[in-house]
Amino acid sequence: MKRVKAIYPGSFDPPTNGHLDLIQRGSKIFDELVVAVLGNPEKQPLFSLAERRKMLEAMTADFDNVSVDTFDGLMVEYALRVGAGAVLRGIRAISDYEYELQMALMNRKLQPGLETVFMMPAEKYSYLSSRLVREIAQLGGAIDCLVPPLVAQKLREKIDVAHRFSAGEERPAPAAAATIPRVKASTAKTRKRKS
Ligand code: PNS
Repeated sequence: MKRVKAIYPGSFDPPTNGHLDLIQRGSKIFDELVVAVLGNPEKQPLFSLAERRKMLEAMTADFDNVSVDTFDGLMVEYALRVGAGAVLRGIRAISDYEYELQMALMNRKLQPGLETVFMMPAEKYSYLSSRLVREIAQLGGAIDCLVPPLVAQKLREKIDVAHRFSAGEERPAPAAAATIPRVKASTAKTRKRKS
């Protein structure tokens, strides 16, 4: 029987319990699953690419057929490069569907041999998104039931540093300061998809 290698691409900023749920499901139906973290998102991420990769590696350490990688540029080109035949994407609610369908069809246009497979995470994660986790963490809310313990810890560390600097502590030199987010409530901008 043909072996199927799939990639699970995303921003994972930060990875959540919903992502982990999907990885778990994907690892059961694909022979090999590569969690592929996007390196060049439009916005400045809260966690660096290396930090996101490290968190995902720790979260997926127990899965024999799951690995973590990073990519930038076109996702279909990355999939081709690593020899993947399928792309795994999660659909939490009907609101995700329109954007996901558009992306899947565009990717099919770009690379007809690559199939997108949609899976649904457990219902209890249907309202969970990285954007909401970031916002809740930045505003001091409880995140422990939303992300794995390691991610919760990293979020607290990040937000704590941001609070110290927003409370008047001198910021480090620009190169180091670039990784420290400013703490503010997010403006309610409409995103294509709440990842
Ligand atoms: O977790 P996200 O932010 O919803 O993931 C979106 C992602 C990374 C899958 C998508 O933005 C992507 O594939 N970006 C890479 C650039 C690309 O291939 N763009 C064309 C999409 S049709």
